[in-house]
Amino acid sequence: MAGSLEGRVAIVTGGGGGLAEGICATLAASGAAVAAVDRSLEKAERVAQLASSGRCIALEADVSDKASVDAMAQRVISELGGIDILVNNAAIYPLRPWTEIEEEEWDRVMAVNLKGYFLCARAAYPSMRERGKGRIINVASITFFIGWSGFLDYVSSKGAIIGFTRTLAREVGPDGITVNAISPGAFPTDAERVHPDQEALNRRILEQQSLKRRGTPEDVGNLAAFLASDAASFITGQTIMIDGGWAMH
Ligand SMILES: NC(=O)c1ccc[n+]([C@@H]2O[C@H](COP(=O)([O-])OP(=O)(O)OC[C@H]3O[C@@H](n4cnc5c(N)ncnc54)[C@H](O)[C@@H]3O)[C@@H](O)[C@H]2O)c1
Repeated sequence: MAGSLEGRVAIVTGGGGGLAEGICATLAASGAAVAAVDRSLEKAERVAQLASSGRCIALEADVSDKASVDAMAQRVISELGGIDILVNNAAIYPLRPWTEIEEEEWDRVMAVNLKGYFLCARAAYPSMRERGKGRIINVASITFFIGWSGFLDYVSSKGAIIGFTRTLAREVGPDGITVNAISPGAFPTDAERVHPDQEALNRRILEQQSLKRRGTPEDVGNLAAFLASDAASFITGQTIMIDGGWAMH
């Protein structure tokens, strides 16, 4: 896909995380100038360094805070020249039986995983509308389709992302902007390390998947780069599973 995103500018939120490694590197290798945005600047800087085959800068922002998101979008516009692609990817995923979830935790999960996607889309939209095209890619999760004990607030937020994706696709379609969701299965990042029994989890995942290898951040990056490219210009409102043939929805 080298060159397919030449001249485009991409924001990747949660840009310091595990899947962001593959997303930022693939978008940058495809020619986009990328901003890896994370609440931890240190983590974003690590990912930006990994994306060394192209241009990737690290920025600090909290996606649940409107002022922080708006300032980040302005910096991207002034430093990289505009916004063409937004990958909404930042999320938190506390593991707890549902009866132990406190109201504060529920609100925090929704603030980062759902409101954060909305705030970033709102901040990126004026630049996309001005350019007459854009790509919004929302990272959801297989857990919405199959249910996953211990993550009631997280899974609820991921289901909401699919409604958000479909409705926003209708709202911004007339501006030439596509909105799609990527729904990853299980990938070996920090998100997985919260599980208490890693060996059992690995076994369970490989049993469930049709393909008997673990997915990589690059697999997700390739899908994001495709959805961001001109080749995907007639695809919008969709949720694409990337799970090695697990849920098949
Ligand atoms: N890894 C998996 O198996 C898996 C499966 C399904 C879905 N997902 C989804 O993929 C996305 C990335 O997950 P990951 O596995 O890379 O997790 P991760 O924890 O490695 O990365 C998430 C990143 O988001 C950042 N972040 C958290 N709160 C933030 C905030 N308020 N503002 C800005 N940044 C914030 C964290 O610092 C972290 O760097 C998430 O949306 C997750 O739900 C992951």
